[in-house]
Amino acid sequence: MTSDPHIRITCLLGTSRPGSYTGKALSIVVDEIGKDPDVSVTVIDPSELELSFPGRGSDAGAARMVESVKAATGLVLATPEYHGSFSAMMKLMIENLGFPSAMAGKPVALLGVAAGRIGAIKSLEQLRGVCSHVGAIVLPGPVSVANVQSVFDENGRVSDSAVEQQIRGVAKGLRDYIGHAICPAYSLEALVRQGAG
Ligand SMILES: Cc1cc2nc3c(=O)[nH]c(=O)nc-3n(C[C@H](O)[C@H](O)[C@H](O)COP(=O)(O)O)c2cc1C
Repeated sequence: MTSDPHIRITCLLGTSRPGSYTGKALSIVVDEIGKDPDVSVTVIDPSELELSFPGRGSDAGAARMVESVKAATGLVLATPEYHGSFSAMMKLMIENLGFPSAMAGKPVALLGVAAGRIGAIKSLEQLRGVCSHVGAIVLPGPVSVANVQSVFDENGRVSDSAVEQQIRGVAKGLRDYIGHAICPAYSLEALVRQGAG
């Protein structure tokens, strides 16, 4: 018997660059999430949206992004490092999540990739600040992938198993947090409702 997935994870891909390394890294996270039959996953790919700056109107795709984030139990944000920060695309996606933000109160796991050998540390710290500012619960242990141009083979596989495990850890950390901190609250609510009925 297959149960309906009741945990929903929405992933925001912070780049529309075709063949991006950020997308490749996020695919591994999605693969890890997909191993759990209780979890459904949605990837928001900005190349499929027409995102505007706030106040300039948004398309149906942007509205679907907001709904997906609102419905999510938890989020993964994946960004490349561009000029010492997270991408403008990621910021635009966050700005399109409203004010107050649809991210408020959601657990968020962060993933960053960079060409440089210090990785995406700066991007991730700045992204953490923005996510916290809008009220998201940013999980500790963001994952930074350094030297990303040498991490993937032509099939999108990671040759270094330690790096692959780190990337998969984004999914595991979020799933663990949801299991320990969010699901007990849902179960308690169900018990209280049963008692009230
Ligand atoms: C506009 C731009 C700025 C970049 N700035 C940085 C940087 O500050 N530090 C770094 O390590 N890599 C930097 N890079 C390299 C990217 O991190 C690298 O190309 C990475 O693969 C980008 O992710 P993507 O493949 O998902 O686009 C930059 C790339 C671009 C296009």
